[in-house]
Amino acid sequence: MDAASRVEELRRLVEHHTERYYLLDDPEISDAEFDGLVRELRALEDAHPELRTEESPTQKVGGRASTAFAEVRHRVPMMSLDNAFSFDELVAWGKRMERYIGVGGEPQTGSGHVDYVCELKIDGIACSLLYEGGRYVRGATRGNGVVGEDVTENVRTISVIPERLEGDAPEVLEVRGEVYMPVSAFEELNQRQGEAGLRLFANPRNSGAGSLRQKDPKITASRDLRFWAYQLGEGPRFRRHSETLDYLKAAGLPVNPNVRTVGSLDEVFAYCENWLKHRHDLDYEIDGVVVKVDDLAQREELGSTSKSPRWAIAYKFPPEEATTVLKDIMVSIGRTGKATPFAQLEPVKVSGSTVQLATLHNQDQVRVKDVRPGDTVTVRKAGDVIPEVVAPVLSKRREGLPEWSFPKECPVCHGPLIRIEGESDTFCVNVDCPAQRDGRIIHFASRGAMDIEGLGEKRVSQLTTAGLLSDPGDIYYLTYEALMGLEGFAGISARNLLDAIEASKTRPLPSLLVGLSIRHLGGRGAEVLADAFGSLDRILEASEEEMAVTPGVGPVIAKSVCEFFALDRNRQVIDKLRGAGVNFAGVERSTLPPTLAGKSVVVTGTLESMSRDRAVEAVKARGGSSPGSVSKKTAYLVAGAEPGQAKVTKAEECGVPVIDEAAFLHLLETGEVP
Ligand code: IVH
Repeated sequence: MDAASRVEELRRLVEHHTERYYLLDDPEISDAEFDGLVRELRALEDAHPELRTEESPTQKVGGRASTAFAEVRHRVPMMSLDNAFSFDELVAWGKRMERYIGVGGEPQTGSGHVDYVCELKIDGIACSLLYEGGRYVRGATRGNGVVGEDVTENVRTISVIPERLEGDAPEVLEVRGEVYMPVSAFEELNQRQGEAGLRLFANPRNSGAGSLRQKDPKITASRDLRFWAYQLGEGPRFRRHSETLDYLKAAGLPVNPNVRTVGSLDEVFAYCENWLKHRHDLDYEIDGVVVKVDDLAQREELGSTSKSPRWAIAYKFPPEEATTVLKDIMVSIGRTGKATPFAQLEPVKVSGSTVQLATLHNQDQVRVKDVRPGDTVTVRKAGDVIPEVVAPVLSKRREGLPEWSFPKECPVCHGPLIRIEGESDTFCVNVDCPAQRDGRIIHFASRGAMDIEGLGEKRVSQLTTAGLLSDPGDIYYLTYEALMGLEGFAGISARNLLDAIEASKTRPLPSLLVGLSIRHLGGRGAEVLADAFGSLDRILEASEEEMAVTPGVGPVIAKSVCEFFALDRNRQVIDKLRGAGVNFAGVERSTLPPTLAGKSVVVTGTLESMSRDRAVEAVKARGGSSPGSVSKKTAYLVAGAEPGQAKVTKAEECGVPVIDEAAFLHLLETGEVP
């Protein structure tokens, strides 16, 4: 290995272990080994000054030497919390607590009733902020709880943290809370890092910690950091924690709006369950719920161990990250021919389910992350999101492990894989590739397109293999007899599928256009085209120029649409669809009263009478719009069962009325809510 490569490797190793040790408190190697790596890097940079860069960990502070920042001795130690890693452990804690206070029985002590404050456990960096005479004077990280780092100037750049407190300022106010980076800011930052060829942050917590612990506060200022206050170190005393939080809020400090005070353990459990389900509705990461006894006198009675208070517990959600061995990297071919690399993993439990496949997005991502078959890797599975490989664990990499290179051949049809100039994706360009063919049919039948229930991935592959389908047009020529000849079909399932196919013939024109898998043509473009031309036949006749000047279409879509319909094979599909009587006409908007003209109605959660897609169509068919997010311009938020919490909160913030399904149906009909 030449000096330049070794320097690169060492930098990555040093950064990785710095992160492990400093940011994750989870070192993988001994201090001596770490020092050895830094020494070797420094020696190489001394011998080859041309390899030294500003980005090198030898030039940056923020390493493990806590001399990077001045020390701060906390006036009141910052304790940590005991954890409950399962619901059972949480229940056990609650019962212990209630027995001690004497809830529902002979009181051992106290009043016999406990109120709990439930808070989100923010996955950020614990910080202490000191205000003297109402002025911000010092910010410190938790450190080891007794001594932390002085990050005063960095914290000062966080815009949500007030420089001056509102109201009557106490002499001293020391408040604790969590500095964090919103998920959206983390994603944007990583996008920029990637574009600049810089290292990607593994998660919002790491990027938040890295951004806070910069030697130069200007860098911190350029990052979007926020803060939630959740505990008082020193300052005015109240009887209850909930009163303390109200006070902090009144003083102008950000207090999380999802804090709830409840009067029973059952409500505590319900709070935990709710947030376990809705954690990804938030734009910041939480890794659990912190439950605290509200009454400060009861807290005194319960006391603390040397490490943590007995009056609080952190209920930790099951981890969304785990490490496992990456067995191999393969590529899958989508309906457009796009080749997506994915990882085959040694099965591992993440977020409560077993994962053995994870996406790697594209060629550049594999390169930036530098994951190689044989690596131990971190895998992340967050909510409904597809599992993803985050990064390799470099310290576990076997020496000489070869880099992975993108295959040159499609794994399905063995045609060439080609990367288009200026794009990050690689494509199989053989339109007859069976993987693409199946993908196009699956997409045609999917919810966002022709919505044919029962025609999913497995069925399509069964039907194409049997030679019954070779393009979406063939769907309409399937017969009962042919289906009954296949394995797994009974009379009912065959009938149901044929009924669903029949019903799809009346789907609106934009759904049909979306279903055809025309490159660059998404839902919005399909609607504009359908609206502007009124029917598929008019679209087929239109010239590229005519299409390109249509507002909302533009030259890229126009070119792509015209190229698509110019191909014989696609014309044949159109003929099959026409022959089967599939709807080619645009929506007759005049048949429905424009009760929602100019109004924006957002839908969240599950409705009983229609799918969300149909609800959106219903709003649009009446002249309204139905975007995916709530803003001040939203007229109503329709909340079905299990609505997205973030949308509801946003609606409340913006003063947007939240209505139920019955009110929505009335709104569609009359333009007004009952
Ligand atoms: S209270 C003595 N409340 O969790 C109580 N901590 O595992 C001190 N954290 O070091 C902490 N959200 O960094 C508290 N709402 C919350 C929290 C929270 C996140 C962190 C904090 C603390 C760690 C304890």
